Amino acid sequence: MEFNEVIQNRRSIRHFTSQEVEQDKVDQLIDCARLCQSSKNRQPWSFMILKGQEKDKVADIMAEPFNEESKEMFGYVNTVQYSADTIKRAQLLIAVFQVCEEEWFAPDLISMGAAIEHICLECVNLGLGSVWIGDICFNERAVSKYLGYEQLHLVSAVAIGYPAEAPKPRPRKSREEILLSKK
Ligand SMILES: Cc1cc2nc3c(=O)[nH]c(=O)nc-3n(C[C@H](O)[C@H](O)[C@H](O)COP(=O)(O)O)c2cc1C
Repeated sequence: MEFNEVIQNRRSIRHFTSQEVEQDKVDQLIDCARLCQSSKNRQPWSFMILKGQEKDKVADIMAEPFNEESKEMFGYVNTVQYSADTIKRAQLLIAVFQVCEEEWFAPDLISMGAAIEHICLECVNLGLGSVWIGDICFNERAVSKYLGYEQLHLVSAVAIGYPAEAPKPRPRKSREEILLSKK
């Protein structure tokens, strides 16, 4: 696929078919993350591939704190449950961890975002659908503990599978709205 088509065609995909994602495609996604640029070339990332019951358990842990009672306290409750449901519909989940070095936290976090986007774009190239799951951070410590890497910062996850939907482009600001002129 032409690079510009990849950019144009990427959407957040939240419904997936039951078709398994081939291991060579999973390997290619991790390679694309690996090749990402990073601040000072620190490559502060580690990735974990989760499938089946382990993936679904992550979804359950993530949504756990947000019960009926807390619904009134947090406006974002429903989106966390919605994201957990999306993870369950996906074939696999890539959990994305950042090494914890306080003095490098901000530049490393930006690098993490770049690597995640590499994965999402390569999904399009491979005919896969993906959605970036930032909501995983709401119960980050519990999920990291379950996965056995409490010493790392669980930044996000990417839910992946073959798409079962083809959403229209979501609204974007115009070029005029985002371009500044020097004052
Ligand atoms: C940092 C970040 C965190 C996100 N977290 C979630 C999430 O937890 N759950 C979800 O369903 N979508 C999540 N998304 C997807 C956005 O909702 C989506 O990108 C946005 O609505 C625009 O839609 P599009 O990706 O189809 O263009 C996240 C995207 C980013 C960049």
